[in-house]
Amino acid sequence: MERTLVIIKPDAVSKKYIGDIIKIFDQYKFDLVALKMIRPSRKNIEEFYSIHKEKEFFKPLVEFMISGPIVVCVWQAQNIVLAVREIIGSTDSKKAKQGTIRNLFGTDGRINAVHASDSVENANKEICFFFEKEEIIEN
Ligand code: CMP
Repeated sequence: MERTLVIIKPDAVSKKYIGDIIKIFDQYKFDLVALKMIRPSRKNIEEFYSIHKEKEFFKPLVEFMISGPIVVCVWQAQNIVLAVREIIGSTDSKKAKQGTIRNLFGTDGRINAVHASDSVENANKEICFFFEKEEIIEN
């Protein structure tokens, strides 16, 4: 069984898309094993996205991610990391395939509704970044 981290970003939270996004993953019969709404600190987000710290979009990305509450959740299923990446679509919402979450609920390359882990290795790191072991349901 694999797990992946999904973040419902401030744009999608403020537009009331939390339920719609969770419903999409439920329809795939993925198991939701952890979920919380948080207001992350600047330091937290800078650390989470530290791989991008030299990129020109880093500062506005951090501002965006701390502009309002986010929902962090962990989903579990076989081969879920790649499956979720397909379901959310490409980073730029304007280029994301029709019917993907970013196409449906995002706006552009930064304001793109959701984040999802891009590999099993990163998923494990990202899950540990936001959740204590006791916060994750063991099936
Ligand atoms: P995410 O999947 O969370 O990973 C890094 C985030 O940086 C990405 O979604 C976007 O929100 C943002 N991002 C990535 N590339 C760009 C870009 N070229 N311009 C602006 N923001 C970007």
